[in-house]
Amino acid sequence: SPKTIIAPSILAADFSRLADEVGAIEGAADWVHVDVMDNHFVPNLTIGLPVVQSLRKATTIPFDVHLMITDPERWAPGYAEAGAHNVTFHAEACENPVALAKTLRAAGAKAGLAIDRDTSVEPYLELLPYIDTVLIMTIKAGFGGQKFMPEMLDKVRDVRRRVSAKDLSVRIEVDGGIAADTIAQAAEAGADAFVAGTAVYGADDPAEAIRKLRALAEA
Ligand code: DX5
Ligand code: ZN
Repeated sequence: SPKTIIAPSILAADFSRLADEVGAIEGAADWVHVDVMDNHFVPNLTIGLPVVQSLRKATTIPFDVHLMITDPERWAPGYAEAGAHNVTFHAEACENPVALAKTLRAAGAKAGLAIDRDTSVEPYLELLPYIDTVLIMTIKAGFGGQKFMPEMLDKVRDVRRRVSAKDLSVRIEVDGGIAADTIAQAAEAGADAFVAGTAVYGADDPAEAIRKLRALAEA
């Protein structure tokens, strides 16, 4: 798998033209980041399983599904069955992250654990052997277009230290305010997967924006 993952978030795309918007990043993006919100876990509502099932047929880019929902045990396996490459659920919403990760892996997906802005990563470090991706929010989950919070990078450093010490193959993903002026510091802290909504879909040329972000992350 590639050294650096760039995962544009379709939250910043035109929802009336999703297949075209995903087509615009084909060949440039590593994953497509799909933000699922339920207006319970976060105060915003986006898209769900039917849209993911339909969109899955429109592209070959792997899907990175970010579930900002309560009761992820009920819904997460459906996204794996719909062909998502990676399904990430929130630590704050899940009673038994290891059990859900096992369920997702059994359903053929990678399992991701997300840590929101106000959550410490410390209690979850011991779970790293059971998960494939740790998503560190660099904003408060719920909306695109927010300002990057550099103080969240201490969590990235903590996870990177543990992953290196135990020689684990865990992706460390950052989400929120990732752009040309912030991606290098996130990479420096140890992130190797980068979600970018506004920075990709707000650009005139999304594919070119992805190439620039990748170059900055790998510099
Ligand atoms: C927000 C979502 C993010 C969002 C990021 O809760 O998880 O994926 O799309 O948007 P930007 O890149 O604009 O901060
Ligand atoms: Zn997200």
